[in-house]
Amino acid sequence: MALIPQLKTFSSQDWVDIVLNNFDEFLQDHADGERKVAANSMGLIAKYPDKVEMIPHLAQNAIEELVHFKMVYKLMLERGIQLRHSMPKDEYAVAMIKKAHSGRVERFLDRLLIVSISEVRGKERFGTIENALDDPKLKALYRKIRIDEEKHGSVFVDLALMYFDRDIVEKRIKYWEEVEDEIFNSLPLRPLLH
Ligand SMILES: [Fe+2]
Ligand SMILES: [Fe+2]
Repeated sequence: MALIPQLKTFSSQDWVDIVLNNFDEFLQDHADGERKVAANSMGLIAKYPDKVEMIPHLAQNAIEELVHFKMVYKLMLERGIQLRHSMPKDEYAVAMIKKAHSGRVERFLDRLLIVSISEVRGKERFGTIENALDDPKLKALYRKIRIDEEKHGSVFVDLALMYFDRDIVEKRIKYWEEVEDEIFNSLPLRPLLH
């Protein structure tokens, strides 16, 4: 069976309402998020040039995230909104990184699993928004992105399995499921992806 992190908590109706009432702000955050995950994949290539097996997969991921960025940005332009001038710190991502192992090898595994569980969360968030939207065009956009993020969640576990034994990866996924849930529930509800 394919390994993929499981979420322990799902997005609340209160969060959905906040997003729908501040949709332009949500789009700005979403666009920045796509740009950041593309940059993160390219950053992993730069950080681990010797991990040759994973480089094509990371490059492909960066391309897909940039396609998402373009899709969201196009929608923003149609709505007459621009990107934010400065990006607020992504408290979710920062909190996750703080919980990563500091040892070189273990940190590599953690970096892959943080991306994986963040993608799983992204899939959950986008799917929730997709269901809540009425506009068919917006719904279709979030459907496409939701499907891709679901795939990305397992891609990053597969990358981990190229370099680590399955039982090690499984054990660490359990750890990240606990940590993600704690962080997810500690953040205030805002019209942001996290
Ligand atoms: Fe994406
Ligand atoms: Fe993704």
